[in-house]
Amino acid sequence: MIETRSLTKTYDDTVALREVDFAADDGEFVSVVGPSGCGKSTLLRVLAGLESGFDGTASIDGTPVNAGGSDDVGVVFQDPRLLPWATVRENVRIGFDESVTDDRIDDLIDRVGLDGFEMALPEELSGGMAQRVALARGLAYGPQALLLDEPFSALDALTKVEQQEFLLDVRDDIDATVVLVTHDVEEAVYLADRVVVLGGQPGTVVADVEVPLDRPRDRTDERLIETRERVTDALGV
Ligand SMILES: Nc1ncnc2c1ncn2[C@@H]1O[C@H](COP(=O)(O)OP(=O)(O)OP(=O)(O)O)[C@@H](O)[C@H]1O
Ligand SMILES: [Mg+2]
Repeated sequence: MIETRSLTKTYDDTVALREVDFAADDGEFVSVVGPSGCGKSTLLRVLAGLESGFDGTASIDGTPVNAGGSDDVGVVFQDPRLLPWATVRENVRIGFDESVTDDRIDDLIDRVGLDGFEMALPEELSGGMAQRVALARGLAYGPQALLLDEPFSALDALTKVEQQEFLLDVRDDIDATVVLVTHDVEEAVYLADRVVVLGGQPGTVVADVEVPLDRPRDRTDERLIETRERVTDALGV
């Protein structure tokens, strides 16, 4: 379980998050939406152990997150952050220690649908493929939790849908808890079991909306559209 209690994060004189209580149960898929600057990335960075110095608590399975990150947590950023001079295999390897064999790395590359591209350089990949390399890297150590910060926002509509389905498949495989930050309300609702809406500056939780549908889901389902409206109302747009 991923949890924050009364999480307040301040940068110099900016309060990014105030008293945020957030939780994702084991195996739950939670989307986080909110206007730019409300602290979504900050929340993810705290959970990923990338921020030292905050008030309140943040924990994964009861263990407080320590600055420096945990092996059990996979993180994927909006920008795939690949090393341009390194092959796909080398880029995925960055997430692992040296004891991991190339076979294991190649399994992972296979799992993200990039079989045959092990020796390719980032410049030879499409945006969607590069994003999948980042996802493979995020899956290092078989994480219990995947934290994704707008992983699909730079993709065209068609590739985005493809990658969303791909994420659901991968999640089925590894049974991870997922926290997905996104600007895209449609994406948030379609993918998640629950949508947490952050708002304001400093950011606080303004709504927590269940998505009352099993998977696979039909993107045109009335209930998805209704849920989307509830989220949009909470966002005040
Ligand atoms: N390293 C930092 N130093 C100073 N201020 C920061 C830092 N990181 C974030 N902030 C501030 O904290 C607030 C929240 O930023 P954050 O990046 O979490 O927002 P966000 O919701 O992810 O926005 P976006 O949707 O644009 O990505 C903003 O006011 C931002 O300026
Ligand atoms: Mg952000």
